[in-house]
Amino acid sequence: MELKGRKMVSLNEFTTNEIEEIVDAALEISTDITGYGKLLQGYIMGALFYEASTRTRLSFESAMLRLGGKVVGFADASTSSSKKGESLADTIRVMDDYCDIIVLRHPKEGSAKLAGQFSTVPIINAGDGGHKHPTQTLTDLVTLKKEFARISNLKIALCGDLRFGRTVHSMLETLSRWKGNSFVLISPEKLRIPEWLRSNLEEMDIDFTEITDLETGIERADVLYMTRIQKERFFSEKEYLKLKNAYILDVKRLKNSPSEMIVMHPLPRVNEIDYDVDNDDRSRYFQQAANGVPARMALLALLLGRWRQ
Ligand code: NCD
Repeated sequence: MELKGRKMVSLNEFTTNEIEEIVDAALEISTDITGYGKLLQGYIMGALFYEASTRTRLSFESAMLRLGGKVVGFADASTSSSKKGESLADTIRVMDDYCDIIVLRHPKEGSAKLAGQFSTVPIINAGDGGHKHPTQTLTDLVTLKKEFARISNLKIALCGDLRFGRTVHSMLETLSRWKGNSFVLISPEKLRIPEWLRSNLEEMDIDFTEITDLETGIERADVLYMTRIQKERFFSEKEYLKLKNAYILDVKRLKNSPSEMIVMHPLPRVNEIDYDVDNDDRSRYFQQAANGVPARMALLALLLGRWRQ
């Protein structure tokens, strides 16, 4: 199936070949980021952000502008008609006529799927609550392929809030589709991956272990993927305070980890990576954030049918 006109609620709707097609286009674009300024001339992207964002929204906007397209939307839903009680479905129906592609971030799990039922233009899920975040995974895959020249046969340690962290969910379920990847899941007992994801991994016979100790977890890892404890998804402030400093990666803890390992983080970081780690050769989280632009340029161009037509 061609990518033109498709929506992206989750990466599960895409074959591994299609995902690699997006990643490879992003890698190509990243070598000449200013060279595609005419590709989406005349197109408009709607950016509907009902939840806080820095990187996702601004890298999508930057991507669209670099492609010569234009952007409409809101960064704060309190300035939109949702404040007056308008439903997401109605907003999407209207936006459908105002733009050619819609990027949606919303605090409710399943919102992107619902939006997809009310729009005729492609909908891209830019994060639905504590569920999924497929375009962060595309960014992460671009980063991995740049670093290792492959997205298979990697040993990946994911650490932090694996229960509410949507970047972790999308990353895990996507990377587990490539051969030879194995995972060490490091989290407090209370923040282990959700049941739906565990049963998917078990069903696919994926090599994963769940542990609580960070240092043990990274002994043989190619990648350490740190994540923030997702404060906004906790039911009580007290619970959050108990867990917020569960893991802090510092230079001392990094000392005994493999010298070839890289450290990733979708950002924003709160306390979980010490600022000293930024100067360690293994840190890649800022490069990872930069990769968000070509990753999203590739996605927009492909879903709008303008890449290599
Ligand atoms: C993540 C998110 O929004 O899920 N941020 C991002 O998009 N890069 C990670 C987070 O907020 O912890």
